[in-house]
Amino acid sequence: MRTREFAAPEAHAGLEWWRSAVIYQIYPRSFADSDGDGIGDLPGIAAKLPYLARLGIDAIWLSPFYRSPQADAGYDVADYRVVDPLFGTLDDFDRMLHGAHALGMKVIVDLVPNHTSDEHAWFQAALKSPPGSAERARYLFRDGKGAHGELPPNNWQSVFGGNAWSRAPGDSQWYLHLFDRKQPDLNWDHPEVRAEFEDVLRFWLERGVDGFRVDVAHGLIKAPGLPDWDGHAAMVEGAEAGNSGDSDSAGPMWDQDGVHEIYRNWRRVLDAYPGERMMVAEAWIARQSRLARYIRHDEMQQAFNFDYLLAHWDAAELRAVIDSSLAASAAVGAPTTWVMSNHDSVRHTSRFGLRKPGARPKGIDANGEQPNEALGLRRARAAALLMLALPGSAYIYQGEELGLPEHTALEARYRQDPAFFRTNGAEIGRDGCRIPLPWKANAPSFGFGASETSWLPQPGNFAHYAADRQDGVSGSTLELYRRLLHLRRDYQLGAGQLQWHTVGASEVLSFDNGQLHAVINLGMKPVTLPAGTLLVSSEPLNAAGQLPGNTAAWLLPAHRPMNTSR
Ligand code: NOJ
Repeated sequence: MRTREFAAPEAHAGLEWWRSAVIYQIYPRSFADSDGDGIGDLPGIAAKLPYLARLGIDAIWLSPFYRSPQADAGYDVADYRVVDPLFGTLDDFDRMLHGAHALGMKVIVDLVPNHTSDEHAWFQAALKSPPGSAERARYLFRDGKGAHGELPPNNWQSVFGGNAWSRAPGDSQWYLHLFDRKQPDLNWDHPEVRAEFEDVLRFWLERGVDGFRVDVAHGLIKAPGLPDWDGHAAMVEGAEAGNSGDSDSAGPMWDQDGVHEIYRNWRRVLDAYPGERMMVAEAWIARQSRLARYIRHDEMQQAFNFDYLLAHWDAAELRAVIDSSLAASAAVGAPTTWVMSNHDSVRHTSRFGLRKPGARPKGIDANGEQPNEALGLRRARAAALLMLALPGSAYIYQGEELGLPEHTALEARYRQDPAFFRTNGAEIGRDGCRIPLPWKANAPSFGFGASETSWLPQPGNFAHYAADRQDGVSGSTLELYRRLLHLRRDYQLGAGQLQWHTVGASEVLSFDNGQLHAVINLGMKPVTLPAGTLLVSSEPLNAAGQLPGNTAAWLLPAHRPMNTSR
C-alpha cells in the first residue's frame, strides 16, 4: 500500500548545494595534529583533505578555531577574526580552504554569537567600566537582588550547571552567562553587537567560506525583563527538559521571536556574496514547527535535526521523526537535515549499544552501563544506511565513518568539559566523544600526531578503528561509508523523494528513494528482501539470502511491487 510521500522541494532540487549536501563535522582539536603538541590544527586538516574527498562528502564544517582561552574548547571566543595559535594562522586557514575548494568540497565555519569569552576585549573593557557605562551595555550586566545586591538578578541556571550569573571579584554587578562563567552572554538588543557580527560574517565571507554553523541560534534574544523561570536550560534534551514541548514557550532565554530579525539581516549579508553561502542553525527546540521558523526563505538555509539525533533505535519512533521532520521543513521550502552524532553527544555507536538503545546519557564513564560495542557498531552501520538514504542534507561527525565508539572509561582526572566541573561530576560531560581520531593502528597517538601526546588520552580499542586498518578492507565501516556516499551521489538521494512501504514486521523500515529501495531491520529476526539487485548491505546476508537483524540493505528492485505503485 502506498503511504505518505514527501518530497525534497522539487522546485529547488539540484539547485543549491546545501539542499542535499553531506557535511562532515571536523572538531579541529581532535582531528589531526601536524606539530605534535597533542592538539589538532589547521595544517593537520589540510593534510587530510584527500581522505575527505575520497570519502565522498560535499562539505566540511569546522568547530571553532578562533583565538580563545579554550574554557569551552573554543566556544569561548576572544577574537572572532584571529586563528588561535593552537590551530595555526590565518594563512593556514586560507591554504586549507583553498585546498578543500580545489578538491570540490565546501567549507563552513562556526559562528558563536550568543556569548564571547570573558577575555574578549569588549568584556575586559566592560569590567573596567562602571555600571551603566556604554561598555557594559554590550553584555547583560544587572544589579543583584537582596539588601546589598548579593543575590543573582534572577533564578536562571547555566546549561552547564550552577547559577547563570556571576560577579567578577570586587564587582558590584552580576553578568549573565547561559554557559560557563567565562562565556558572558552578549546583549543582542545593542546595535553595536549586531553591527560587529555582520562585520565578522563579512570577514569570513571575504575569505571565501561557504557558510556558517550558528551556535546557540535560539538563545540570542532574552525575554524582556529577564523573568524568573523554573525550567532547566538544557542543550541536548529537547522536550524532555521542558525546552518547549507542546507550548510555544521555551523558557525566557530560548527561541524568542526577536531572533528572527537577526537572521533575516544576516541572510541579506550572505546573499550579497556570489556563490551559495549558507547558514545552519544549532537550535535545541523541541517543537518542529518552531524550529522551521529558522529556515524560512529569508532566514537560514538549514537547522540541525536534533529530534533525529535523539531518536532511539526503534522503527516506529524513527519513522515518526522522519515524517515530522520532512513535513516541517517542506512547509517552509527548506531541506531536512539528518544527524546522529556531534561533539556534544555520546557517539551513536555507543548509544545504540546500551540496554535501551539510543538512550541519551550525558556522558558515560567506567561507573556507568558499558555499551555492547559489537552490537552498537552493528546498529550504527545499519543506521548509516537509513540516514544516508533519506532526502535532504546529512551530517557526519568525524570518526563516525570509522565506526568509532565513545571513550566510556575516561578517568575523571583527564576531563575538561566545563559541564563536568560545574555539576561536580553529576554530568560526566562530552569529553568521551571528543577523543583524538585514530589514523594508524601502530603509530604513537594512533597517528593523530607526530608524538604520543594527545589532549585527551585515547582508549586502547581505538587501534581496531584506525583508518589504516580499514582502508581498502572490504566490509570495514570506512569502506561502507565510502560506498554509501558514492551511491548517494550517483542516485541523487539527497534530492530525492521518500516513499514508505508498509511491511509486515513492525521492526522494519522500508522505503523507496527514486530508484533505490532501502530496508532497515531494527529487530533481531531475519527478514526476506524483495527481489532485486543488492547494492550494499551493512552486514552480509544470511545463508538463506535474508537480511539479518540489526542490518540494512539498499537494492534496486527487480520490479516495483504492486503495493507501491505511484
Ligand atoms: C553548543 C556547542 O555545540 C557546544 O559545544 C558549546 O559548549 C555550547 N554551544 C556553548 O557555546
